[in-house]
Amino acid sequence: SFEVEIGSTGQIIAVGEETSALDALTNAGFQIEASCTEGVCGTCETGVLSGTPLHLDSVLTDDERESNETMFPCVSRAKSPRITLDL
Ligand code: FES
Repeated sequence: SFEVEIGSTGQIIAVGEETSALDALTNAGFQIEASCTEGVCGTCETGVLSGTPLHLDSVLTDDERESNETMFPCVSRAKSPRITLDL
């Protein structure tokens, strides 16, 4: 499990092992546009401000993964205990 911090407000949202970051954000009232929920369409792309994503999508190139600038919360998680998203 890990925590998502909302960059604009500092709100912390816990993401449990059984839940996607997208679902945790949606349940907390954040409306993130999503389509496939399988990490292939790219719709849910969300900017990363700090922390290290664990990329589980099929969209990003290796260079984009290493840049840590964006992630797909429908499938991707965090390697760091907390990840701050540009929301
Ligand atoms: Fe398709 Fe996240 S909804 S990549």
